[in-house]
Amino acid sequence: MSDILIIGGAGYIGAQMAKRLQGTAHKAVVLDNLSSGHRWAVGDAEFIEGDMGDAALLDKLFGTRQFDAVMHFASSILVEESVSDPGKYYDNNVARTVTLLNSMVRHGRMRFIFSSTAAVFGNPKTARINENHPMQPLNPYGQSKHMVEIMLRDYAAAGSLHYGVLRYFNAAGADPEGEMGECHDPETHLIPRVLQAASGRRKSITIFGEDYPTPDGTCVRDYIHIADLAEAHYLLLEYMISGGKEVEFNLGTGQGYSVREVIETARKVTGKEIPVENASRRTGDPATLVADGAKARRVLGWEPRYSDLETIIRHAWGWELSPRRA
Ligand code: UFG
Repeated sequence: MSDILIIGGAGYIGAQMAKRLQGTAHKAVVLDNLSSGHRWAVGDAEFIEGDMGDAALLDKLFGTRQFDAVMHFASSILVEESVSDPGKYYDNNVARTVTLLNSMVRHGRMRFIFSSTAAVFGNPKTARINENHPMQPLNPYGQSKHMVEIMLRDYAAAGSLHYGVLRYFNAAGADPEGEMGECHDPETHLIPRVLQAASGRRKSITIFGEDYPTPDGTCVRDYIHIADLAEAHYLLLEYMISGGKEVEFNLGTGQGYSVREVIETARKVTGKEIPVENASRRTGDPATLVADGAKARRVLGWEPRYSDLETIIRHAWGWELSPRRA
């Protein structure tokens, strides 16, 4: 058994990752400061409450235990908040990650897998975004992730660590077995908000902008199921352990859906009417964001299993209705 440190393993995607390691040759050890994650999401995995910016805690951890890899899911993720409070993003997403990386480096050349985002690319210049697309982030959130990617290249060039970066497009859905799902406060993401409108926890869903240059005028996104994201991490881990050299992968299906298509599919899945209101555009939203995920398929053998929109919404709806979600 080898231990894998999952930082942010009490969060939406990190907790799914810890679950993915069950029954494998790896054991999840979760480190989370519970600033936005939930203790219940960790389940039976080993749990350490703490912050990746706490150098003393990390030095003790890396000094006394051996980890086959460190996975980093612990970023702040709200684009609008990053615009109004950039300091939070440069502190949590950049400065604390530097503390983490430096502690890792003090304890040998370790493997590191970083959760990055489509937001590093900015406005798309091609219909599908591959790994060679220029990186011009539009907000401090995207900048903070981009900065970490740049740092990782430098650490690797210095021989200090071995890293991989996975850039998620729109993470969505819930655990296929219903044990965990999205639980953000505030919830800003489209699919959980649509389902809150279906269950009655929210009065209606507001569509932010219907005048985009897309087929129905609403924004198009590439939704990717969290179980498929966890699988990509698992495959990347195995690839790195077996000496793989590629380091950057975009994770999406290559298929985009508009806000209106999401709402229509949610109506079909839930059987609920889902009242809609219209509002102006949300600042900073690109019209279309769709991944070219061919490299992850080719190099890692990644094949999304759950990422058709209906399955994503079915799982998220099960979670919306689940008594566990309290
Ligand atoms: N939207 C609505 N109404 C809502 C919520 C969202 O119309 O109540 C729209 C948004 O304007 C956007 C689409 O639905 O067009 C998707 O919005 P989300 O907030 O669900 O997701 P984003 O595409 O804005 O953000 C996601 C991740 C970010 C990441 C970004 C990449 O959540 O972390 O993709 O640009 F940065």
